[in-house]
Amino acid sequence: MAIDYASKIPNNVDLDRNKQLQRALEHWQPRYLDWWREMGPEGSHGHDVYLRTAVSVDPKGWAHFEHVKMPDYRWGIFLTPREGSREIGFGDHKGQAAWDDVPGEYRSTLRRIIVTQADTEPASVEQQRFLGATCPSLYDLRNLYQVNVEEGRHLWAMVYLLHAHFGRDGREEAEALLERRSGDADRPRILGAFNERTPDWLSFFLFTFLTDRDGKYQLAALAESGFDPLARSTRFMLTEEAHHLFVGESGIGRVLQRTAEVMKQHHTEDPEKLRALGVIDVPTLQRYLNFHFSVTLDLYGGEVSSNAATFFNMGLKGRFEESKLTDDHQLKGASYPVTEIDHGRFVERQVGAALALNERLRDDYIRDCQAGVDRWNKILEKGGSTQRLTLAHKAFHRKIGVYAGHHVTPDGRIVSDTEWNHRAEEWLPSDADHAFVQALQGAVTKPGQYAHWIAPPPRGINSQSADFEYVRFH
Ligand SMILES: [Fe+2]
Ligand SMILES: [Fe+2]
Repeated sequence: MAIDYASKIPNNVDLDRNKQLQRALEHWQPRYLDWWREMGPEGSHGHDVYLRTAVSVDPKGWAHFEHVKMPDYRWGIFLTPREGSREIGFGDHKGQAAWDDVPGEYRSTLRRIIVTQADTEPASVEQQRFLGATCPSLYDLRNLYQVNVEEGRHLWAMVYLLHAHFGRDGREEAEALLERRSGDADRPRILGAFNERTPDWLSFFLFTFLTDRDGKYQLAALAESGFDPLARSTRFMLTEEAHHLFVGESGIGRVLQRTAEVMKQHHTEDPEKLRALGVIDVPTLQRYLNFHFSVTLDLYGGEVSSNAATFFNMGLKGRFEESKLTDDHQLKGASYPVTEIDHGRFVERQVGAALALNERLRDDYIRDCQAGVDRWNKILEKGGSTQRLTLAHKAFHRKIGVYAGHHVTPDGRIVSDTEWNHRAEEWLPSDADHAFVQALQGAVTKPGQYAHWIAPPPRGINSQSADFEYVRFH
């Protein structure tokens, strides 16, 4: 299905045929660009960046690469084409035809779901806006910008749904999405992790590995939705999301590779010596991982959630890979284990499966994260190191759900306030860790060169040569 690039707003939704909607979006477009100029990557607006743009929604060969200035990026509206007549795959409406319009009684619930997803997209751009000044290479800078423009496009995808299906309320929500600001005390972004700072590239790689992966799981659950335009929007977003996960996983992989090289060369795993040699020691990386993992786990919400059950029963949000699951897709009489803390001990109890859908999605997510950590550990192993990274226990450092208010160590021991306060710096990045990582940051902007603390990638973007000029400054 071809994308119309002749229109002001590139799209494959026949925007030309709905003048009212087209006008409304064309009215929102300059406001979006104002937001991008104010809150998008700092100082980047004149740079020529080697970006990929979606030219088709065909999973094979959908992207086109060229140098563009980011404010000129063709942000557009791309939905995965309809698959004949689609049926709702789960919940109370299972087997009925998927909806092209919002069912009246689900309107406010669906709007809330879409706004919550939409809000994360500009939030991450805001969180990452100062990273350009300390890029470890042009390759990495380009990847950062690619992620940023695509998060901008994800905002477009959600704003299209709000404009096309929610009338005046939707238009107001679309405005508000440009008004909230990550980390702002008066008008913060909706979800906690999206108000945290992303102050350095180590945090950026962990954010894209962990928090963009939360995005993947949320989008995958929405891609099952009975509301077909949402399912088709999120499906195409998932193709873009894959690159964000790659940036995170390969970024940390390259950090580990570099650290392993230096450990081998100098016969040491001593963090202090490694820091003096200008690379990031594994224990520091572990503390950063612990932090980002725990705040991202909170994004899934409470373990037992009547909202989650409602979304599922209404047919609005499914499970991860719902269509590949072999149960009744209605969870009648089914249960799911949830682990809580009772009198200082972990206790597992069975909960109605629909009520436990947040926990189930979180568990699916954790498995996916673990596979990534295993791949990182292979890099350490290959590099001759005995050190390994681990994923923290899911009760560690949680602020939302049954573990909030408890202190649990990364290896899953429930501890007292005293022990926690005494030892938290072993488990979470300290001020000194932040200062050390911050001190490593410094812009490397010569083609083919890389900061000392990170290995070059094995291959370039779109098979470009090692010294390719991914970003040209003006
Ligand atoms: Fe996104
Ligand atoms: Fe993303």
